[in-house]
Amino acid sequence: MPFFHIFYDEKLTFAAIQNVLMEVFKEIFPLKSYLKEGRKSGMSIGLVPTMGALHQGHLALIDESLKEADLTVATIFVNPTQFNNADDLEKYPRTLEADLKMLEQRGCHAVFVPSVEQMYPNLPELQFNFGKLESVMEGAFRPGHFNGVGVVVSKLFNIVQPDYAYFGQKDLQQYMIVNRLVDDLSFGLQLRRVPIYREDDGLAMSSRNRRLSEDGKKQALALYKSLQLAETMLKAGDSPADVQVAVEKLFDSHEVKIEYIEIVGLDTLEPVKNISDAGTVAVCVAGYVEDVRLIDNVIIKLDF
Ligand code: PAF
Repeated sequence: MPFFHIFYDEKLTFAAIQNVLMEVFKEIFPLKSYLKEGRKSGMSIGLVPTMGALHQGHLALIDESLKEADLTVATIFVNPTQFNNADDLEKYPRTLEADLKMLEQRGCHAVFVPSVEQMYPNLPELQFNFGKLESVMEGAFRPGHFNGVGVVVSKLFNIVQPDYAYFGQKDLQQYMIVNRLVDDLSFGLQLRRVPIYREDDGLAMSSRNRRLSEDGKKQALALYKSLQLAETMLKAGDSPADVQVAVEKLFDSHEVKIEYIEIVGLDTLEPVKNISDAGTVAVCVAGYVEDVRLIDNVIIKLDF
């Protein structure tokens, strides 16, 4: 896997680590011994897995863990196996020094920043198949993505053995898949879904927003506007088919290349045709702005 290696800079990681007092681990075994000590003194462990380039949305996950668990461990690892596009992997923002400072200031207890070799001494042969849950939306448009997520998240769960793990609602399908993974493999932890954190104008916070120009950020607001429109229409009783047409029309006047807009049942992620007995639905949208792929969603309780 030669192209994976160029993205981890040992010297930069070393320099960033020197500037913080929080516990920082680059290797699995020292982290495990540290956690073992914590567990021995009866501490519960909260895990916040991230790919870095942290923003307020990540800090909201840290806050939830700090409230609930005794020891909060964040991980920062840009996982190459979940990228189905080499360019996206290369351009994924990397801001380790700033990330470590943010985590330390927030009160995070420890952080794991492994190299690719540490996480993948061998490229895994294991393949996950999440069935229907991954046949739609991100799974359909990013082949292999959820296999990579499944493998890395399983590794992190095995390494940290947390009591709680925190995932953001912005990656709703990822949350659902990890939820299934926790059940299927009996990880014995409690998974928490933390609401989307938005900018004042409504743009969902994302590490990828850093790659947008100021104008791009304005264009990207169309994603949020489309969700607001969908919510209003669905609550007024409009059909999912009509909502999809209206939303696609909204994108005509924006610089957003829409990839999908789906109205799905929250529990199954299967497309909803008839809202009269749909219960709680999620409207999920994905699109490109300035060649940056963005996703967003809203969860709507429909009572008809
Ligand atoms: O949501 C993310 O940032 C990543 O998919 C995760 C969960 C850290 C796994 O690499």
